[in-house]
Amino acid sequence: MRNVKLEDIFTHPVTQKHLGRSGVAHAIAVAEYAYMFAKRYQADPDLATKAALLHDVGHYNWYRNGEWDYELYKENDIHAIKGASRAHKLLIRIGEDPEAAKEIAVAILLHTDSYLPNGELKLKPLQKVVALADEADEETGGNHHYKTVADHMALERIRALDARIDSEMKQPHEIG
Ligand SMILES: [Fe+2]
Ligand SMILES: [Fe+2]
Repeated sequence: MRNVKLEDIFTHPVTQKHLGRSGVAHAIAVAEYAYMFAKRYQADPDLATKAALLHDVGHYNWYRNGEWDYELYKENDIHAIKGASRAHKLLIRIGEDPEAAKEIAVAILLHTDSYLPNGELKLKPLQKVVALADEADEETGGNHHYKTVADHMALERIRALDARIDSEMKQPHEIG
């Protein structure tokens, strides 16, 4: 049984506030991709979807003189660092297992290498899944952050993912 579901995370005011900035539609699409990739790379779908849902909560405003400035933003970007810390704080607050919260936070920290010095990172399956899922929903010029989704559809898609993960996690226990 999961202590914390995607719905608990998604509906929390902290998540709603930060996803409002980086895009609810993008976060949900990335969670759905992460569920798919988790199967392919044998990563934990619970951790992968949680990390994916929260991967961009570290974004901040990227305006200069009231104008959106994506280039400037990319130059100074540390959203993965901020996001990892923000997500960890939230997860612990809502009762996530500390080990799981750490795994999720590290996957968020490594979902992009844009702020790291050159060099190949050796990603674990969970980290790779979140990075790939993010890439899968990427659009040019950061437009994926501006896609929209109706509130009821967003919640429906989150609940559908929860149901699939719940039913998968039950199976091994029933056999054992
Ligand atoms: Fe990101
Ligand atoms: Fe993203």
